[in-house]
Amino acid sequence: MSTVSNDPAVLNVAERVLDLIRDGDKVGLGSGRASAAFIAKLGERVKAGLKITGVPTSNASEKQALELGIPLIPLTEDVELDLTVDGADEVAPNLDLVKGWGGALVRERIVAAASKRQIILAGEEKLVQTLGERGRIPVEVIPLAHGYVIRRLKALGLTPTTRPVAGGTEYFHTDNGCLTLDCACAEPLRDGAMARKLEAAFLEIPGVVDTGLFLGTAERVLIGYADGRVEVRMP
Ligand code: A5P
Repeated sequence: MSTVSNDPAVLNVAERVLDLIRDGDKVGLGSGRASAAFIAKLGERVKAGLKITGVPTSNASEKQALELGIPLIPLTEDVELDLTVDGADEVAPNLDLVKGWGGALVRERIVAAASKRQIILAGEEKLVQTLGERGRIPVEVIPLAHGYVIRRLKALGLTPTTRPVAGGTEYFHTDNGCLTLDCACAEPLRDGAMARKLEAAFLEIPGVVDTGLFLGTAERVLIGYADGRVEVRMP
């Protein structure tokens, strides 16, 4: 469930990204705290007359958007979205990302792929020099393949931990009924090439649905700072 952040840095980027939304746009609605702040502000604009339609990336975002009266299109329809606004867990200097700490990476990937532009909202704490620095790269797996995928990830030199539900010990299941393996790297991914090599290795493993490595997907990143500044970075 997304909760709307009261972090001013997050609220500032959520406000700023509204400048990129035009009447008639089809908008991918990301998941997590920054996205929830954006959806809340978008809901206010819709109430004031803005005509957009949204495609949510999680059950939580869908519920929030419906409560705010944002018209939605089901993901099952083949629509080209004008932009997707989403959060991230790590942002590298080349704008490669780690996403998925919030458990919605598969739908986030699909919605971003169906969009002309992916716009990322992040607080300054998400900026890293090398991906993997903050300690975990999520990999979503089909439950049946759980044990096998763990063995293969360990063979890649990673330390996978099966994500539990927040504050509990049972396994967390994504909206797709899958499990998440949070992978710690033995060493941070020193550059984009190394990140791409790891992504390919993840995707070769049967049972892996998708990974939290979003490489080259962001059209721009809005970074919110504690002092109130919003910086826009483009590759
Ligand atoms: C959800 O699966 C994630 O990709 C989120 O977009 C990411 O975890 C960022 O979330 P916050 O905005 O809550 O930090």
